[in-house]
Amino acid sequence: MNPFRYGQVVSKGDFCSRPLLLKQLMTFAESGQNVFLQGERRIGKTSLIHEAVRKLSGYKLLYIDLLEVKTIDDLCRRMITSIVRMEQKAAFQKKLLSSLAHLRPSLSIDPVTGFPTVSFDSRIGMKPDTIEGILDLIAELGGKRKLVVAFDEFQDVLNIRESDRALALLRSRIQFQNNITYFFAGSVRNQMNGIFTDPSSPFFKSAASLEVGPIDGKTFVPFLKKKFASGERKISIGIVGEAIGMAGNIPGDVQELCACIFDATSSGESVTGEHLAVGLNMIFARERKAYEATLISITGLQLRCLVALSETDSVKVLSSEFLEKTGIRTASSVQAALKRLVKLKIIYRHKGTYRLANPFFGSWLIWNGF
Ligand SMILES: Nc1ncnc2c1ncn2[C@@H]1O[C@H](COP(=O)(O)OP(=O)(O)OP(=O)(O)O)[C@@H](O)[C@H]1O
Ligand SMILES: [Mg+2]
Repeated sequence: MNPFRYGQVVSKGDFCSRPLLLKQLMTFAESGQNVFLQGERRIGKTSLIHEAVRKLSGYKLLYIDLLEVKTIDDLCRRMITSIVRMEQKAAFQKKLLSSLAHLRPSLSIDPVTGFPTVSFDSRIGMKPDTIEGILDLIAELGGKRKLVVAFDEFQDVLNIRESDRALALLRSRIQFQNNITYFFAGSVRNQMNGIFTDPSSPFFKSAASLEVGPIDGKTFVPFLKKKFASGERKISIGIVGEAIGMAGNIPGDVQELCACIFDATSSGESVTGEHLAVGLNMIFARERKAYEATLISITGLQLRCLVALSETDSVKVLSSEFLEKTGIRTASSVQAALKRLVKLKIIYRHKGTYRLANPFFGSWLIWNGF
C-alpha cells in the first residue's frame, strides 16, 4: 500500500511531528486562549488542530468547516450538523431539536457516511439570531466537558451578505464562554487579518495569532525517508530535499509528489532523479485538464506573469527585472494582471511577492515552454 497520504486530515503515524506548534496550540487550548491560525493552503492547519486536541486528554473537538459558506442559513446548518456529529447522546440531541423546534428539524442517519445529519424545513430560513441559540447550545456542551471549537476556513464568513452581523453575533457570545477555547483557522491572509486585526472588526484583538508554516526539514526529511523505507524503497536525503523543493515546501503537495514517486518505483528499488521526473509527470497527466481550463480563463498578459512567477520566487514583481521577464512594459499592467490572478485564486501573496497556489502548475508551464 502506498504510505503517503494527501488531500485528507492526517494524524498519528501519518502526522509528521511539529512539536513547537503542537505545544503552543495545546497550551492555548488548556489556558482557554482563543487563537487564529494562518497558513497557506495544504500547509497542515486542519491536521494540526485535530492532532493537538487528540493529544490533549479529556478534550473534545467541535470542528466546523466554513469553506465556501455563503449564507446565514448555511452557517447555522454547518454548526448544527457539527454539534450532532460530536454529541451523539440521545438526551442532548432531543434537547437540541426541541430548542430549534421553530425550524422543524428532523434527525436522520446519512446512508452513505453513517453520520447523523439534521435537516430542516427548507421553507423556514434561519435568521442571524439563530446563531446565538446555537452558541448557547455550544456553551452548554462546554459546561459538561473540556471543549475546543474550531472554525476552519473562517474567512469565508465574509462571503455571507450579512457577515458584519454574523461576526458581531458570534463574537458577542464567544467572549463570555470562558471555559471553551476557540480556534479560527484560515488560509486567506488579508481576510483573516481583516477579521482579527482591523479595529473596526468585532473580532479585533480577540484571539492570539499563530502562524503555520512549512514543516521543518529536520523532521520532515526523515519522516518521508521512513515512509519510503516502510514500502521498501530507498531514497537519499538529497532526493527527498529535491522533492520537497519541487512541491514548493507545501506538505500536502510534497506528500502527493512522494505518493507518485512511490508508484513509479518498485519494491527494493532506490529512488533516482529520473523517478522524480516520472512522479511529476504523473501529476501533470492527472491535472492537465484543470491546467488547460485555467489557461482558457486567463489573458495572455496574465499568463506571462504566471510564467515569470514560476521561474522566480523572490524577484519583486514591480522591479525592472520582473517586467523584463514578462515582456510587459508598464508596472500598472503587471499589477492589474496579478490582482486578477489573486482574485481567481491562481496565485497568492507571499513574503512581499506572489506564489502559485499550485506549484505543479508552475512546473507544467515551464515544462511545456510557455
Ligand atoms: N504534520 C503533517 N505531517 C505530514 N503531512 C502533513 C502534515 N500536515 C499536513 N500534511 C499534508 O498536507 C495535507 C493537507 O493537510 P491539511 O488538510 O491539514 O492542511 P490545511 O492547511 O488544512 O489545507 P487546506 O488549506 O486545503 O484546508 C495532508 O493530507 C498531508 O498530505
Ligand atoms: Mg484545512
